[in-house]
Amino acid sequence: MQDPFPESPTFVTHLECGMQHDHYEADQLHGLSKAGKPLLVKYDLDGIKQSVSKEDLAARPATLWRYREFLPVRKSENIVSLGEIHTPLIPVPRLQGGKGTVWIKDEGRLPTGSFKARGLCMAVSMAKELGVTKVAMPTNGNAGAALAAYGTRAGMKSYIFCPADTPEINVREIAAQGANVWRVNGLINDCGKIVGEGKDKVGWFDFSTLKEPYRIEGKKTMGLELADQMGWEVPDVIFYPTGGGTGLIGMWKAFNELKEMGWLTGKLPQMVAVQASGCAPMVKAYEAGEEHAPLWENAHTIASGIRVPVAVGDFLILRAVRESNGFATAVDDDKISAALDECSQKEGFLMCPEGAATYAAYKQELESGRVSPDESAVLFNCATGLKYPLPPADQSIDINEPVDYSMFD
Ligand SMILES: Cc1ncc(COP(=O)(O)O)c(C=O)c1O
Repeated sequence: MQDPFPESPTFVTHLECGMQHDHYEADQLHGLSKAGKPLLVKYDLDGIKQSVSKEDLAARPATLWRYREFLPVRKSENIVSLGEIHTPLIPVPRLQGGKGTVWIKDEGRLPTGSFKARGLCMAVSMAKELGVTKVAMPTNGNAGAALAAYGTRAGMKSYIFCPADTPEINVREIAAQGANVWRVNGLINDCGKIVGEGKDKVGWFDFSTLKEPYRIEGKKTMGLELADQMGWEVPDVIFYPTGGGTGLIGMWKAFNELKEMGWLTGKLPQMVAVQASGCAPMVKAYEAGEEHAPLWENAHTIASGIRVPVAVGDFLILRAVRESNGFATAVDDDKISAALDECSQKEGFLMCPEGAATYAAYKQELESGRVSPDESAVLFNCATGLKYPLPPADQSIDINEPVDYSMFD
């Protein structure tokens, strides 16, 4: 069998503050920059180009680690993996609003059933490489589940805090996968405060979204993989369910790195940040032309993964949206539910509510004219629909009674 993680040259040069652009040394443990902003990992892109070709990549297994030269882990022994396979791009012709082609990228196939595996396998691998043994995180559910799994696999202790109404399955999977988990009677930002305050008191490393630099690098593989799957081309538009924004920021970083290397030519995709009307800080800031998005009061939506009232990477999300000529848009919960039902009933595809939000937004924007039916679109379904409460199905048959076959027409 092919060695899944052969040693390979690595190309990280340094880290850079996403806001001030000052530099930080690679191979050291970092949280936020001095300005309190996310750090972005920088690579010698020329070096990557000299070292590896598209053909070399194609000969490797179809996993996230295919893109090793684009990733920060230096030594193979530090890779913490649970099998991060490529996720399929599924055409959904019955949902198609027009002549263009619509695909769903189904991230529910990844370990722990969500795209959070991409970010957390990278962040945990880097934490292992840098000697971290104790980590803590606020979560709306899926990220905590991925941290529980990868943290346990790496032999780390993990402490996870989630809002009290986090889906039951998430809380239980976190506990089952060996982490310590607490429900908190607040929102994800309240959980984040507990993690921040515990840094000095308990000595754990803060794994909050974008407060360590490597989750973005894992999420970046959504962009690398998408371009690879499409023959080193990209769709016209990407609809992405946006909470903390790591995925959107990561994909935009991937497309720009590929463009700088000359592996992508032409127009990059328009990045559309999809939020729920009950929690839409990015949409409000986008529409107001602001660079930052203040806290959204009384955040609520059935799409718990995107219930993020305030994001430390707000300016990076808004920058990606604007640089790509995309936009931010919000959809109501009833439209999210209707989109979820439509997708499962017409295509047999059970989306998660956050994924369904992207389909609801796609339909809404076809109607508004911001997206044309001629354009190709990729909708991100970031978790399996099986992780969420489902409507009851309560028909039954009593084997002691004659079966009434007339009901089966
Ligand atoms: C299913 C799902 N979709 C989308 C998101 C938002 O992800 P991001 O932090 O990349 O914006 C989350 C985050 O918890 C999620 O669980």
